[in-house]
Amino acid sequence: MPSKTCNVVVLLSGSGSNLQALIDSSLGQDSPVQIRGVISNRADAYGLERAKAAGIDTAVLQHQGFDGRQAFDAALMALIDGMQPDLVVLAGFMRILSGDFVRHYQGRLLNIHPSLLPKYKGLHTHQRALEAGDTEHGCSVHFVTEELDGGPLVVQAVVAVAPDDTVQSLADRVHHQEHQIYPLAVRWFAQGRLRLGEHGALLDGQPLAASGHLIRP
Ligand code: GAR
Repeated sequence: MPSKTCNVVVLLSGSGSNLQALIDSSLGQDSPVQIRGVISNRADAYGLERAKAAGIDTAVLQHQGFDGRQAFDAALMALIDGMQPDLVVLAGFMRILSGDFVRHYQGRLLNIHPSLLPKYKGLHTHQRALEAGDTEHGCSVHFVTEELDGGPLVVQAVVAVAPDDTVQSLADRVHHQEHQIYPLAVRWFAQGRLRLGEHGALLDGQPLAASGHLIRP
């Protein structure tokens, strides 16, 4: 879709620093990325304030009012589809999504995860990397499939672990890299360069390596 803008809907649950990085990188006149809306499952997510400050439509959908995951996800899909996205971006959206949801957005749903996948799926990734004595850690952007944190990788950034790192110091450096690689992956998609093929992610028509595009310090 190189000749038109790519409508992006961002889903988040918290601070939204990745949303901010996406907003900042989409501001240029030549940017193919248009952030159409931001949806949170938590009314107190600071990411909503970031969106409002940038003049982006926001919506809150809390799971408490729904009878189970399927019902919540159906309402979430209706809300998202009302914004007519070309791409849906999970930016710290801390809910497991149903198979129906993931299949509905197949090939147009990206996630960012704070580890070098396939290592450390799930939570507490920085602590787990430190406890394992890893010398390298990092973050990953991937297409979402039904396997939790398991879809084809698009880009990874490696962060060296220092002997005196704490969970916080490591998290800060990983976060900084997240803010580089997520806008990069979203821009590739918006430019029509990135897509999900039958056997994995493709960049400019070529299969990406299993690790995705790898960025080293
Ligand atoms: C990010 O570190 C992101 O990788 C992580 O949540 C954080 C959100 O930060 N996502 C996951 O753990 C998903 N499994 P942010 O709200 O400041 O963008």
